[in-house]
Amino acid sequence: MITTETSITVKKTTKSRISELNEATMGFGKVFSDHMFVADYSNGQWAKAEIVPYDKISISPAGSMMHYGQSIFEGMKAYRTDQGRILLFRPLSNHKRLNISAQRMCMPVVPEELFMEGLLKLIKLDSEWVPKGEGTSLYIRPFMIATDDSLGVKASDTYKFLIITSPVSKYYSDPVKVLVETNYVRAVEGGVGFSKVSGNYGRSLYPTKLAMQKGYQQVIWTDARHHRYIEESGTMNVMFVIDDTVITPPLGDTILAGITRDSVLTIARDWNVKVEERKISIDELIDAHKAGTLQEAFGVGTAATIAPISLIGYEGIDYSMPVLKNNSFATRVAMELDEIRKGRKSDKHNWIVSV
Ligand code: COI
Repeated sequence: MITTETSITVKKTTKSRISELNEATMGFGKVFSDHMFVADYSNGQWAKAEIVPYDKISISPAGSMMHYGQSIFEGMKAYRTDQGRILLFRPLSNHKRLNISAQRMCMPVVPEELFMEGLLKLIKLDSEWVPKGEGTSLYIRPFMIATDDSLGVKASDTYKFLIITSPVSKYYSDPVKVLVETNYVRAVEGGVGFSKVSGNYGRSLYPTKLAMQKGYQQVIWTDARHHRYIEESGTMNVMFVIDDTVITPPLGDTILAGITRDSVLTIARDWNVKVEERKISIDELIDAHKAGTLQEAFGVGTAATIAPISLIGYEGIDYSMPVLKNNSFATRVAMELDEIRKGRKSDKHNWIVSV
């Protein structure tokens, strides 16, 4: 049972910016709501925790996160129901994953009570910022940074954990064109690809820029050893439907344990759709495309939700993906997730936390 204790102090803004919230123009992650949650870690414990007006934070130029990359984050969403209630989708899964990232990066874990109390209090305070329109939500970005004022290469002794929120609409407005990347890599065995480490995203920018210059929006990452097996697409997990079977690369060192990925696979299994979490090579994908058995290709992630892939470029050839129909698996699962997140369907897996 989660309670909203009042050990978190609240300093309300005197200048709300809510009048600037325009659902038609908000896009993704450009506008931030009025408040943020901040907790400080030092002397082996989380001490000061407060909700304050959204503003710049002050960090020493020697702050170790900026030099040695101890920085992790999460992404989740709050939805407004037709009745105006506010629901969070799987926040406890995000909390769990944050701590998996923290452990890998030698950072302190965030206790569940601190995470959930800070989160619930913040969303309650900024509830007006949860947009109403179809396809909109309040994107929630918890993150932790190392703050030691020191250039020695070692795990920091001090950290900040923050939660900021941003009203958003769709991440991709159209189906995405992706290029299979066979030179650069996102993740390696023994590395940090399974976790939400900021550096995973920084390292993706240059290959993505090169793909964009060729007319694609994203890359499909392949394995570092052979450049043969598909891993993820851009910032999303990736799924294919071949011969009525949903296929996605298996979790491991190099694949992020996506919460949307897990939700989609859970719903597929509920529906008795065949699911295979296994390696899939780019050759197998192209062969299925040629044989006409590749039915769907799509990315799944918190920000993007379900993002249809319209085209895959590989070795100089562009392969058009089948257009998703109303009865395609990806379309149906996107609708199902939407219904659950908006509280219109029963929440049989206990994914929803009411604010
Ligand atoms: C998310 O889906 O929350 C992500 O991590 C993508 C984000 C980097 C925009």
